[in-house]
Amino acid sequence: MKKRIIVTGGAGYIGSHVVKALGERGYDVLTYDNLSTGNRWAVLHGDLVVADLSDSATLERVIRGFRPDAVMHFAASIVVPESVREPLRYYRNNTVNAIHLLEALQKFGVNTFIFSSTAAVYGIPGTMLVNENTPLHPINPYGSSKMMTEYILKDLSVALGDFRYVSLRYFNVAGADREGGIGQAYKEATHLITRALKTAKGEFQKLQIFGTDYPTPDGTCIRDYLHVDDLAEAHILALQYLLDGGRSDVFNCGYGRGYSVREVVGMARKVTGMDFSVEETARREGDPPALVADSSKIREKLGWRPQYDNLEYIVKTAWEWETAKRKT
Ligand code: UFG
Repeated sequence: MKKRIIVTGGAGYIGSHVVKALGERGYDVLTYDNLSTGNRWAVLHGDLVVADLSDSATLERVIRGFRPDAVMHFAASIVVPESVREPLRYYRNNTVNAIHLLEALQKFGVNTFIFSSTAAVYGIPGTMLVNENTPLHPINPYGSSKMMTEYILKDLSVALGDFRYVSLRYFNVAGADREGGIGQAYKEATHLITRALKTAKGEFQKLQIFGTDYPTPDGTCIRDYLHVDDLAEAHILALQYLLDGGRSDVFNCGYGRGYSVREVVGMARKVTGMDFSVEETARREGDPPALVADSSKIREKLGWRPQYDNLEYIVKTAWEWETAKRKT
């Protein structure tokens, strides 16, 4: 029998790529999304229920009707600087709504859960390469709100023997699927690659580089940029692992290689052929100097074999999406 999966946030950037991957693998998918940042057209498989996670009545009705074997929880607010300005909104959407979801799932005995966590839980790690045992010290409300949900999941798995989860800690997700007609569509996107490409396209006059005095070789922050299709594959593997009876666990998702902001800007100029303007400005609040994944655990334990560990490919697919994108 086809396994049934509810995907919260399945109309968003990462969620929609995972819905596509699930559909292609023959899973029966239902997306639950309030469309605050997602888009109806991005849901390529299964039904879409437009509702908020705080709406317990709808949530319970959907779970009762669909009877999922597992839930993948993407729905969240994800912009670091915004979380610094609006912490309560982040704790409500990312932590309180996760509790709503887990409570509803408990009512119907749904005990298999995949959580979108983030490298932001690590804060400013003492080392460039971060593994899953690195202590969690988030430095912004976004990271804290996700860390709290991780703690909740851990406590729940201890309290209820049947409840099993995987938290995937994403590093910097970018790029787009080449066939799906989906990509990063959030109009106010703040992420570096998207901002750089929108600048190349003329949507912004210049790209700001936030901070050139970090303790890194070129003074700008270093991140581990990961193609969204490789991340979607990591979700499929995590799901299969849990459905096969795997124990609760946490995995980093990144390639283990970092690029500075300046290197990304250089690649965006190369891929687009545009020598767009750049302005060096002050540091942005809440930014750690360097975050790079030690991803040996997911490679070994789940057999993850990323296909697109190539910054040029990542930027190229993001550019193809950006220039072909339908209007939202
Ligand atoms: N940056 C700029 N100019 C911009 C945008 C970003 O210089 O216009 C810089 C940032 O200061 C940072 C780097 O580019 O140094 C990357 O910033 P992003 O906003 O693209 O991404 P973040 O690293 O802040 O956060 C992202 C996700 C988080 C995740 C984190 C993990 O949004 O969910 O990666 O590394 F936790």
